[in-house]
Amino acid sequence: MKKKLIAGNWKMNGNLAANEALVRALLEGMGDAACTVAVCVPAPYLAQLRALRSGSALEIGAQDVSQHEQGAYTGEISALMLKEFGVRYAIVGHSERRQYHGETDALVAEKTKTALAHGITPIVCVGETLAEREAGKTEEVVKRQMAAVIHTNGHCISEIVVAYEPVWAIGTGKTATPEQAQQVHALLRAQLHAATSHSDRISILYGGSMNAANAASLLSQPDIDGGLVGGASLKAADFLQIIAAAR
Ligand code: PGA
Repeated sequence: MKKKLIAGNWKMNGNLAANEALVRALLEGMGDAACTVAVCVPAPYLAQLRALRSGSALEIGAQDVSQHEQGAYTGEISALMLKEFGVRYAIVGHSERRQYHGETDALVAEKTKTALAHGITPIVCVGETLAEREAGKTEEVVKRQMAAVIHTNGHCISEIVVAYEPVWAIGTGKTATPEQAQQVHALLRAQLHAATSHSDRISILYGGSMNAANAASLLSQPDIDGGLVGGASLKAADFLQIIAAAR
């Protein structure tokens, strides 16, 4: 069985002092975690994280990556730059980027490709809005989002991580029930299986108000391979409880 992955998504939070306290508490509390643990931090803190995690099992992630290699793209950060700081994961296509930065399925697919080309594991986010769920379109939406990534990346998708994040559950305290999440994870699993014979390598994370109280029941579902954790990853005690639940 593959190891579960618990990835924190700090979003636009943190400062040097708070990061240090949080990471030190995580390193102390993680021990020999049964799962892989990563924190996806704002880019200015990558150097700090590289120093803090040195010699530990804590992995570093970025929250986005440019689809371009280099050049005149003001404000963008390339995969090669991320690599220099020991970044292993990059979140791609988070719903906040789709919503506030107009990221399309095609762009998300391109970013996935660039990350893979540089040995960074993209955590590709898919998920429906509340209106889409209520209109009975959940399956159609997540399959469309996933299909774009499969189409552009072919068999290389066996190297990605997927995160199913229902938009209505992000930062709202409304979690998908384990059954609701499992249902979508199973259909994503089937879609990935049809695209690559190595789909068993792909971890499918759940994200959206995962917390210390609900993590164990979500993570016990057969197709939930870990979590992408926002708010609860900013509190060491809560994040450590989620890590402990991932076995
Ligand atoms: P949340 O965020 O855990 O705060 O809902 C998850 C995410 O957006 O990745």
